[in-house]
Amino acid sequence: CGIVGIVGQQPVSDRLVDALKRLEYRGYDSAGVATITEGALHRRRAEGKLVNLETRLKEEPLSGNIGIGHTRWATHGASTERNAHPHFTDGVAVVHNGIIENFTELKDELAAAGAEFQTDTDTEVVAHLLARHRRDGMRRREAMRAMLKRVRGAYALAILFEDDPSTIMAARNGPPLAIGHGDGEMFLGSDAIALAPFTNEITYLIDGDWAVIGNSGAHIFDFDGHPVERPRQTSTAAADLANKGNHRHFMEKEIYEQPEVIAHALGHYINMIENRADMVSGIDFARIPSLAISACGTAYLAGLIGKYWFERYARLTVEIDVASEFRYREIPLSPQSAALFISQSGETADTLASLRYCKELGLKIGAIVNACESTIAREADAVFPILAGPEIGVASTKAFTCQLAVLAALAIGAAKARGTVTEDEVQALVRSLAEVPRVMGKVLNSIQPEIEFLSRELSKCRDVLYLGRGTSFPLAMEGALKLKEISYIHAEGYAAGELKHGPIALIDENMPVIVIAPHDRFFDKTVSNMQEVAARGGRIILITDEKGAAASKLDTMHTIVLPTVDEIISPMIFSLPIQLLAYRTALFMGTDVDQPRNLAKSVTVE
Ligand code: G6P
Repeated sequence: CGIVGIVGQQPVSDRLVDALKRLEYRGYDSAGVATITEGALHRRRAEGKLVNLETRLKEEPLSGNIGIGHTRWATHGASTERNAHPHFTDGVAVVHNGIIENFTELKDELAAAGAEFQTDTDTEVVAHLLARHRRDGMRRREAMRAMLKRVRGAYALAILFEDDPSTIMAARNGPPLAIGHGDGEMFLGSDAIALAPFTNEITYLIDGDWAVIGNSGAHIFDFDGHPVERPRQTSTAAADLANKGNHRHFMEKEIYEQPEVIAHALGHYINMIENRADMVSGIDFARIPSLAISACGTAYLAGLIGKYWFERYARLTVEIDVASEFRYREIPLSPQSAALFISQSGETADTLASLRYCKELGLKIGAIVNACESTIAREADAVFPILAGPEIGVASTKAFTCQLAVLAALAIGAAKARGTVTEDEVQALVRSLAEVPRVMGKVLNSIQPEIEFLSRELSKCRDVLYLGRGTSFPLAMEGALKLKEISYIHAEGYAAGELKHGPIALIDENMPVIVIAPHDRFFDKTVSNMQEVAARGGRIILITDEKGAAASKLDTMHTIVLPTVDEIISPMIFSLPIQLLAYRTALFMGTDVDQPRNLAKSVTVE
């Protein structure tokens, strides 16, 4: 899931591993590096985490001033050392992110011509194609072009040719790839965070580009082989270099950072609401007949909460789906509409494909992203940054609440533009938003002990059910998602009203039911659903506010009482206990919280 490369003046293997460590947050299950030394390619690879690769390198060090490295998140072939990148074939070394879609066809063709495949990966066809073109007498660049003409699918590639110990070749179509400019050295990485210790001068390749990188610069070409110029930019990734501070995990740090980062985000957007012209740049919320929203994972659940807000406050119909369905559903969308894509990384393959689909239909495109240099940001007409700072924990926390803050602000801005709320109502909503950082701080300071006790209980369970109504329904799904992602306990989030249409069959004394119920318009209805659980011996953990706690006379296993806040901000405040419950439960389970098994932070395959 991560690529690095260095054309250096000194040995590179340690620095390659350091750069790979900075990409660890993206998720991976094996790793490897290759260098050229004394005219030959050498590699070390290892299954599992990077410490295994480091151990290998200690046992058998790797010299060489040029090299490429990779962390792999398995798509084709198990996560064994044999399938780990770099792949070697006849003097060619390849690392790859993405999927070569026509690899079966290519593999058959190459095998028929005598190629012997060493791995189960799709990537190996790239190495074989290049090797064959070289044997046919092509020069390196020609071979590169010819290979790129044959492969279909998504790729970020870094390639070493044994007979050229001074250049790395790279290509991009889909997953991101950045060239870093150093002093007499050049770098390559999946993102600027990987390259931050080496340089903050970055050139991003765009889809269809390929490059020849030497130690004093890079030549970039388009798909047809014409030289192209891509801008060199100063990345800010180095400024906010990620470290855990006093926290045990990035996830914990990111949970506790929320009052601060959401204050940034809200500050930015509240200014925009006051000045409507800025707010609607790129998207004319006053005129669009409807809005489409698409995203994956946690970002999708933020979008689902956004739907409630756009519909309620701005009277704007919202069509929303997970990106992997959205792009294929053939939804009748009006070209006069706008579409919003929500993505922390800005690189998620399905979200990007949905964006391009809507763009082709002529819709105005808005992107709610954390990574403002990302592909999704670059391809949008209007970019709405969430300003959360780098999120390293695979399970999204602060990006989720900042996405909510931006969606709430956009919905209020849209409502104002459409005249569906009065100026007084706008002011009241904005005042509520401004409260979020303070209330978040208060909650984080006070709920620790009860979270500890409840998490110990949850860690003994096999299944957990989360219920909620209104915006608490997507939040219930987010609570379940967070818990299963990092503790591996099975959890489901349901609309409280749907309880009796199925999940009620599961209720017994072994399955806790976490009910998210602020004292809102739906509170009484949710209490009725809790009664149904209690009547069947279910154990209820109620997350409510002061008013809700006073109004509910139910006997619960435990009630978490949060401050009473306005309805529009409750999803942001109620996110905190569900994030902390998942985090603490995972600690009791002893799982790898920041890098849960099988998950990746940035999913650049479909
Ligand atoms: C992965 C991550 C999730 C994230 C989702 C969408 O599955 O593990 O935490 O919500 O991708 O990622 P994005 O970067 O588009 O928000």
